[in-house]
Amino acid sequence: MNSSESPLAIVVIGASGDLAQRKIMPALFSLFARDLLPSEFAVYGFARSAMDDDTFRESLAGSLACRYTPASDCESRKRKFLEHCRYTQGQYDEAADYLELYRALRRMFPGEHPNILYYLAIPPSVFLQCARALGDSGMTQCGDSPFWMRAVIEKPFGHDRRSSDRLVSELATVFRETDTYRIDHYLGKEIVQNLLVLRFANSVFEPLWNRDTIERIDIDWRETYGVKNRASYFDRYGIIRDVVQNHLLQIVALIGMEQPAGRTPDRIRDAKVSLLRAVNPATPDSVRLGQYTAGEQAGLPRRGYRDEDGVPAGSTTPTYARVALTLNHPRWHGVPFVINAGKAMDADRTEIRIVFREPATPWCDREGSCGPANCLIIRVQPNEAIRLRVVTKEPGMTQRTVPTDLQLVYGEAFPQTIPEAYERLLLDVIHGDKSLFIRKDELAAAWDVFTPLLDHLKKHNPEPEPYPFGSDGPR
Ligand code: NDP
Ligand code: BG6
Repeated sequence: MNSSESPLAIVVIGASGDLAQRKIMPALFSLFARDLLPSEFAVYGFARSAMDDDTFRESLAGSLACRYTPASDCESRKRKFLEHCRYTQGQYDEAADYLELYRALRRMFPGEHPNILYYLAIPPSVFLQCARALGDSGMTQCGDSPFWMRAVIEKPFGHDRRSSDRLVSELATVFRETDTYRIDHYLGKEIVQNLLVLRFANSVFEPLWNRDTIERIDIDWRETYGVKNRASYFDRYGIIRDVVQNHLLQIVALIGMEQPAGRTPDRIRDAKVSLLRAVNPATPDSVRLGQYTAGEQAGLPRRGYRDEDGVPAGSTTPTYARVALTLNHPRWHGVPFVINAGKAMDADRTEIRIVFREPATPWCDREGSCGPANCLIIRVQPNEAIRLRVVTKEPGMTQRTVPTDLQLVYGEAFPQTIPEAYERLLLDVIHGDKSLFIRKDELAAAWDVFTPLLDHLKKHNPEPEPYPFGSDGPR
């Protein structure tokens, strides 16, 4: 029997939280709706909040969306999914509470022992207590049994290289590295998955993908909202740890890496690690930091970061960072990878721009206009698209040149619904495919890029540059 067809229990620890309710449970529902979960499965929510099965189901119902189910079947499909969902109230550091959950789970699957997927959707402050208690309960050891137990660990994985190493080694006493899935949900985004295909399956790009033809690479990430209800987490981490060191550095790795020696998860991750090790550590003079102040968005007044609930007075935590990374790598010598990331900005957008050099002998029109340099724009979200900006002769009785786009717009080219990142990644965990998860040496290499800078910022605590909510960052 294929392991993905064996009975499956999914234990979502922190099931009352934002991530569980907004992303994990809807993704599980989508997998169910597409018949991608085993026929025998159950989802166990675990958290401290007082709920029974019914109130847990009610709390989930509103966030499930029928992305793959016709509207006429939607409600009955949701009901069927919710019948598989159960809830156990408990303390994260109490082995006995996990044992109670385990007993319930065994009652549910009296025959074949199910595979168990643990999803740790809890704040980093309770991570280790939870893992230790799970370990003490004996629920993470399956030895040579035919079933598996896998753990999905959410970022942040520590707050610098040292704490990350500690976390990795402490968690390793509970979950084996082979069973540990460190999730970075940007790796599950459709366009991010396409980066290696675009580069290595198309012979037009690879010969150009180097310092001779590429001048710079911009990775632009912006959100229109501030820290919402996550201020206490965000204030301790800041934008560099929140998205730059992980999501955006992963994009750098996929854009910059050499072709892997094979398609296996380890060969792909070997290639990423070797690129990450070639990134020079970010330095204080390569970074600009900002923090949003009061502003306006869609005609509504918005509070500044320091006035958000849960942000300590006078906090200097950056909500914006612009970091220019350089690589000690023959392919990329002298080519900056510029990451621009900000909350409370003017748009919701993640975009990669590969800016090519201008022709050695420019081809200008009779009016002296030479057109902009070529640029490959990869729009990760929203509205996934790939555009190549080229200079074209304007049609008609003219020799004027104009910039135009050759473009692939996903919404037009592909009729199918594009899966959410968490759908794809959860399915990969069930299938035991780790290609899109972060290996521990990869994590260490990613922290090495930012730890010296983060140490410097901690010591000197510079005042970030202000920018108004809804703007495009510091002037
Ligand atoms: P929440 O703050 O919503 O916490 C999840 C649950 O943990 C809460 O419902 C609460 O449940 C319990 N909890 C909260 N604070 C504490 C505390 N101080 N001590 C003990 N228990 C607590 O977190 P999220 O769902 O936002 O995030 C979960 C994990 O996922 C975190 O590691 C986060 O960094 C990561 N993540 C989150 C993302 C998001 O968009 N939310 C995105 C990417 C990663 P109860 O009180 O019922 O026990
Ligand atoms: C999370 C960050 O990892 O990613 C959040 O903690 C951020 O601050 C989120 O908003 C962005 O994810 P997405 O998928 O909405 O772009």
